[in-house]
Amino acid sequence: MPNSWYRVGFSKDLRPGEVKALRYFDKDLVLFRTESGEACIFDAHCRHLGAHLGHGGEVKGEGIQCPYHGWIWEKNGSCNYVPYPHTGCNPNVKIGKWPVAELNGTIFTYYHSEGKAPTWEMPQFPEFYGGEWVSAVQMYKRNVKCSIQEIAENNSDTAHFSHLHGARFGKVLSESLELDGLLRTHIAAYEVQVPMISKLLGINEFHTTYQQYGLGCNRNLVALKANGKTVLEWRLVCMHTPIDKENAEALCVTKLKKFINVPITRLIVELLTKKACEEVDKDAMVWDHKIFLENPPLYKEEHSINQFREWVRHFYTESEEPEQQATISRASATANKN
Ligand code: FES
Ligand SMILES: [Fe+2]
Repeated sequence: MPNSWYRVGFSKDLRPGEVKALRYFDKDLVLFRTESGEACIFDAHCRHLGAHLGHGGEVKGEGIQCPYHGWIWEKNGSCNYVPYPHTGCNPNVKIGKWPVAELNGTIFTYYHSEGKAPTWEMPQFPEFYGGEWVSAVQMYKRNVKCSIQEIAENNSDTAHFSHLHGARFGKVLSESLELDGLLRTHIAAYEVQVPMISKLLGINEFHTTYQQYGLGCNRNLVALKANGKTVLEWRLVCMHTPIDKENAEALCVTKLKKFINVPITRLIVELLTKKACEEVDKDAMVWDHKIFLENPPLYKEEHSINQFREWVRHFYTESEEPEQQATISRASATANKN
């Protein structure tokens, strides 16, 4: 699995004192919020005798108490309480602690196949702060039988936009692909040939800036313009998380910049989100059943796929071959079925 920051929850769903059992990265984890409000992620199984802290564990101050013998693991991973008379804690025994970043209303952790610390940080997105943006109530969330790399590759695959999604783009007005370290940005503007809402508002240009932050977050900044003037500004933020090598949780949220007034903005953002969810679901249908082809016969218009595959190598530990393992096991699972 690629090393990256990944979403494991939303801030609003974890109140101080709450504990949740998680299953991501082929591992059992426990997520909890201390009494002072810090989100923490540990390996789920207690270092004493293996009880799962996410099932019956309780937050005590800045740590979590195991339901089995009552040892308390502090937020730094060390044990600060053993409830036996005359017994102190062994300072050498620590529980596995995962990096946490909490921003954009989201709790992220950093996965590294060898447990190394993150070398980059997730940025703040302005649309998650302040009152200028209205969030859609709907969001897309579903498990897919697909590796995280293949899901991320979908956005580099511009050729599927028209066939699978039925996008009716006219002339390409501009296009560029930029790599800035670990950030990958694809900027494009198209003439729009669209029905309904666009006609109503005189929209004739669709501008999109697609940014990818590692493998766990991509952000689409969409501007719908009428004769060069921005009418609607929309954000589609997808935060997918590996469940294991071959399965992932796909999740997308959207926001619209205030347009005329809040009720109208709410109405439009829900319409846009409904459509976006339908489209991501079409991708999910493909993701559930596709296989990874290492050397696909691509046309020159599809160069961004090769560029993506080159870029994605940054996120693997050297000993790991991108995608290969998931591909082999998927192919053998198919062979076994036949
Ligand atoms: S297993 Fe957790 S305290 Fe014993
Ligand atoms: Fe797609």
